[in-house]
Amino acid sequence: MASEQTVFRLNSRQSIVDLTRSIEEIPKVAAHEVLVKIRSVALNFRDLAIATSRYPFPVKDNVIPVSDACGEIVEIGPNVQGFTKGDWVIANFNPGNLYGPMKDWFGGLGGPVDGVLRNYLSINASSVIRVPKESSLKASQWAALVCTGTTAWNALYGNIPLKPGQTVLFQGTGGVSITGLVLAKAAGAKTIITSSSDEKLSYVRRKYGADHTINYITHPEWAKEVQIITQGNGVDYIFENGGSGTIKQSVDSISYGGVVSIIGFLSAAKQEEMPDVAALALSKGCVIRGITVGSKQLLEECVRFVGSHSLDIPVEKTFPFTEEGVKAAYKYLSAGQHIGKICIDVE
Ligand SMILES: NC(=O)c1ccc[n+]([C@@H]2O[C@H](COP(=O)([O-])OP(=O)(O)OC[C@H]3O[C@@H](n4cnc5c(N)ncnc54)[C@H](OP(=O)(O)O)[C@@H]3O)[C@@H](O)[C@H]2O)c1
Repeated sequence: MASEQTVFRLNSRQSIVDLTRSIEEIPKVAAHEVLVKIRSVALNFRDLAIATSRYPFPVKDNVIPVSDACGEIVEIGPNVQGFTKGDWVIANFNPGNLYGPMKDWFGGLGGPVDGVLRNYLSINASSVIRVPKESSLKASQWAALVCTGTTAWNALYGNIPLKPGQTVLFQGTGGVSITGLVLAKAAGAKTIITSSSDEKLSYVRRKYGADHTINYITHPEWAKEVQIITQGNGVDYIFENGGSGTIKQSVDSISYGGVVSIIGFLSAAKQEEMPDVAALALSKGCVIRGITVGSKQLLEECVRFVGSHSLDIPVEKTFPFTEEGVKAAYKYLSAGQHIGKICIDVE
């Protein structure tokens, strides 16, 4: 096996092109670790925020970015049981969060600790989940489940579990929303998705079978459309990606007792227009719940569901693991034209 690997690091974090490529030693595995040869990594909005110093949580200096990878085990520490060389694996977003809620923001890969934009990762075997490599899914699709799959699964099952026939609304056509839509459809839910683009909405109807679509630019009061679609019942679950700028429309769209999962912060309300979230929650008796990605346990459940249904996890585009390829992938994500996930095939 080679002794050196290609690693990308963020030195200054002023722009997405501040990524620098270097050659570093392949880490040695400790007794409780496995060494994973990375095959594919998936990007998240978080990676853009980290690269441009807009991420509101801790980030280490000179960090190796990106949290989501799928790879193959090539070495196994002497104290590790239950894995064999050649197993395809993914690791949890926060390797220390095995079950229950995340306890702090100091453990996420690619932020406070070095991430996966490299050839090899040594990691505690307890954080690792085997994925069925005999399935039809590509490594990029398994990588794409790490942050977005866990987040979407957490929103659907981490509190009051989704039941078949319920309705889920997704804000925007980004990675979390489309992955959530695929999971919810497979679980027998009805789906509504919003977007700024009619073109994206018609694609999502055709390709992913969204039941209803709403353009949130041409319908700024989109909750009214939701009430028409649901005949006044509202939706049972909402993936809240806008944050304070969209929460009022979300609560106007939710059913009594429904669940609004606060996932993103893409649209901030002006201070003078800040909604009274306590009063809104009370008005509908709804759950308004912050999501912090999720535990290994949630990811494991998600992997089992995806594997057993061979779900086509929505990777829109993959880029090569060259300096140009990595920067092009970041630029493509930041352009916001994508529908679903963007990945970099490392091997
Ligand atoms: N809390 C957590 O644990 C967690 C985990 C993962 C991600 N996140 C956050 O969730 C958000 C989405 O992540 P992602 O990876 O899916 O991002 P992404 O792939 O970059 O997608 C973002 C999409 O959000 C939509 N959007 C933007 N402004 C909007 C608005 N005002 N109302 C409705 N939709 C809007 C846009 O959809 P259209 O182009 O269709 O309009 C955009 O394409 C980000 O803020 C991210 O940081 C949080």
